[in-house]
Amino acid sequence: MKTTRIIATGAYLPKCQVSNDDLAKFIDTSDEWIASRTGIRSRHVVREEHCSDLAVEAAREALKNSGYQASDIDLIIVATCSTDYNFPNIACLVQKELNIGGIAFDVSAACSGYLVALHTAHTYIITGLAKRAIVIGAEALSRLVDWKDRTTCVLFGDGAGATVLEASNQGILALMQGANGAGGDCLISPNPNQLSGLYEKNNLPAYISMRGQDVFKFAVTKVPECIGELLKEREENLDDIKYFVLHQANSRILESVAKRIKQPIEKFPMNLDKVGNTSAASIPLLLNEMNRKGMLNRGDKIVLAGFGAGLTWGATLLTW
Ligand code: ACO
Repeated sequence: MKTTRIIATGAYLPKCQVSNDDLAKFIDTSDEWIASRTGIRSRHVVREEHCSDLAVEAAREALKNSGYQASDIDLIIVATCSTDYNFPNIACLVQKELNIGGIAFDVSAACSGYLVALHTAHTYIITGLAKRAIVIGAEALSRLVDWKDRTTCVLFGDGAGATVLEASNQGILALMQGANGAGGDCLISPNPNQLSGLYEKNNLPAYISMRGQDVFKFAVTKVPECIGELLKEREENLDDIKYFVLHQANSRILESVAKRIKQPIEKFPMNLDKVGNTSAASIPLLLNEMNRKGMLNRGDKIVLAGFGAGLTWGATLLTW
């Protein structure tokens, strides 16, 4: 069967780290409150850098690790919801910096964005529209949060993860995606210059706003559904999956999903304690960390699952 495979990974995190104790110096919070409810202890935050800088560095590392040259890549897709410019898109900025040709565009699906980008690149490659892609998740969410709002600013972090994808006989086995626009008002990041009016009646602040418990309920219901649907399609068994690589929103969401699908929490790798919720960057950042640590071996079956604003969701079953 012709499919696509992730052949290399890369990542970049801004140098500046902000711990929960650092946050407690300027907002009414504590390491104990944040860590016990989310699992997050620290996050990386941009200072001088922009989202595109993170994407460029992650892509540069993934390309180097793939052993290919810039001229071997003909598709770049960046998943982001914290782009530097409305245009040009970040993929074009990466293309320019790394001297790559071909197709370049961004996708916006918040925390599901990396999977949407991965599925798009997969489709381009198997239909012959592209031969080799760099798929990046990059975010600078620290620029979108209100640093005086303790209900949101403690959750997010900045970073970028990148993967190189090419045609192969093994790799992606099944994928699924969905969206429910009607449920989208529980998690919003408005563009202050461009408010559409759709949600304005709610008197939104100019920063990220969230109804946390609604997001929690959505995640712990939708992710098990996605995983079930994905495995059913391929008649695969949950016990044969080595890792469930989930969007790193919150350790309690991951623990609840593990419980609901009756799988040990050890099969749900996490790095959110060190990086927080990096939205579209979280899955490729974690994949890169696992890859570097030698946790991913050829032939391992892995499920990726993303969920987030929109509402959107997506999942992929693949053989590493
Ligand atoms: N530090 C201290 N106290 C806080 C903080 C904080 N950082 N944030 C909120 N509180 C307070 C609230 O003000 C409230 O106080 P009150 O009772 O005096 O009014 C109290 O803690 C409880 O607030 P809740 O919002 O009810 O807290 P909850 O237990 O629901 O936890 C949380 C909030 C962690 C966000 C939880 O709802 C959650 O995990 N939601 C999932 C959402 C999520 O992970 N979103 C990430 C982005 S979306 C995505 O990636 C898909």
